[in-house]
Amino acid sequence: MYVQQRSIPQDYSRDDWKRGYLSQPQESEYWLDNLDGEIPAELCGTLFRVGPGLLDINGHPVHHPFDGDGMVCAIAFKDGRAHFRNRYVQTQGFQDEQKAGKPLYRGVFGTQKPGGWLANIFDTRLKNIANTNVIYWGGKLLALWEAAEPHRLDPHTLETLGLDRLDGVLEEGDAIAAHPHIDPHSHRDNSEPCLVNFAVKPGPSTAITLYEFATSGKLLRQQTRFIPGFAFLHDMAITPNYCIFFQNPVSFNPLPYLLGFRGAAECIQFNPNTATKVIVIPRDGSGEMTILDSEPCFVFHHANAWEEDGEICIDSICYDSFPQPTADSDFREVDFDAIPEGQLWNFRLNLERGEVSHEVIESRCCEFPVLHPEKVGRKARYLYLGTTHREQGNAPLQGVMKCDRLTGERQVWSFAPRGFTGEPTFVPHPQGTKEDDGWLLLLMYDAEHHRSDLVIFDAKAVENGPLAQLHLNYHIPYGLHGNFTPEYFGP
Ligand code: CO
Repeated sequence: MYVQQRSIPQDYSRDDWKRGYLSQPQESEYWLDNLDGEIPAELCGTLFRVGPGLLDINGHPVHHPFDGDGMVCAIAFKDGRAHFRNRYVQTQGFQDEQKAGKPLYRGVFGTQKPGGWLANIFDTRLKNIANTNVIYWGGKLLALWEAAEPHRLDPHTLETLGLDRLDGVLEEGDAIAAHPHIDPHSHRDNSEPCLVNFAVKPGPSTAITLYEFATSGKLLRQQTRFIPGFAFLHDMAITPNYCIFFQNPVSFNPLPYLLGFRGAAECIQFNPNTATKVIVIPRDGSGEMTILDSEPCFVFHHANAWEEDGEICIDSICYDSFPQPTADSDFREVDFDAIPEGQLWNFRLNLERGEVSHEVIESRCCEFPVLHPEKVGRKARYLYLGTTHREQGNAPLQGVMKCDRLTGERQVWSFAPRGFTGEPTFVPHPQGTKEDDGWLLLLMYDAEHHRSDLVIFDAKAVENGPLAQLHLNYHIPYGLHGNFTPEYFGP
């Protein structure tokens, strides 16, 4: 079933993995001329990626990487060459803390100000850390963090231009999610692409607001729905007619957070005997919302959704329970065996009968699913994911997997024992005709040289290994999400 290049006795060492989580204070730009292999001449455009760049503030460690200040990388490709640039998002919190030389804010994932609980009690201010996703849309480059407004950056220089309220769509203090999805052919907009994103407002019932934006950045549609109870919604899936959310079976007890003992996300409790609620909202704003019960599981990311034979199908990365950050221990010492691994599940929703069924598509640990942008919301043949070297259990991501949803075939390339990966990005070949005509781009931490590589694969032949490995001058801490634009923003 698996095509893999080699087997090795030990897949990784914890010390190697941990060094990929060292802070990277450097910001610079240069041509990526130190490389193995060849950059495809047809590869043209810019890959933007973001993630936590600082894992400490002047020696005060963050409690969880999700609390780290956002640093954006831009890799611009043209004529067989690539140019690299990285820069911190100059958020207010970043500037204040760099000046003070210590944490001034608490992090959602447990980072506390120095001084114990007395220094943290009742401090519910959030630091907008702009570290989760970055996307070029409507002529703007936006760094996203789901609990606050986007930051706008200059796509050429990555200079921070300030908070961006999406031309007045957001009000001061409003949040928007870090998981926009682009419908490549919106049937309400003459088959033009549109960007769909959402916002979540907590309360006794949770408000979900859906936004759809034209390629110009102009707001096309907006609607708000209310669902019962607390909801942790990081991502959604879209089809031409629906937005689909999974309301994970979790409850929230804010007391330890308010009293200064724990971060807000550490107060989330998984309820293994409660159903996951599948929320289906018609995108046109007129139809009824449907809420269905499914197997208890925890989902951060959906791979894709599509409509088929009167049903809605969704591929998602599912965990048996909430892979909870622990309040008392350093994330660097995490016991991988004690937390559930993500697996690829397929769900089928029958709205008429009110039924949900599911099957496990891939039990090997995987995360960060992506696909051909033309297939978003449509039935896709290929998914690409970050994966572990080992075929069972949880471990750091060290490889990339191509998953053929038609034949069940898998192709895996692993950088074990000393390489570590994250989210791949699929870039279509400009003259491509097949769904896998294109390239996978991936930032890989190379512990042997303590630097990161930008790796390029032929998406058709992942099992053949990289077409090129472009060596950066230094390491980029493990990142979160990013997007590719065919526009070239290099020098
Ligand atoms: Co995410």
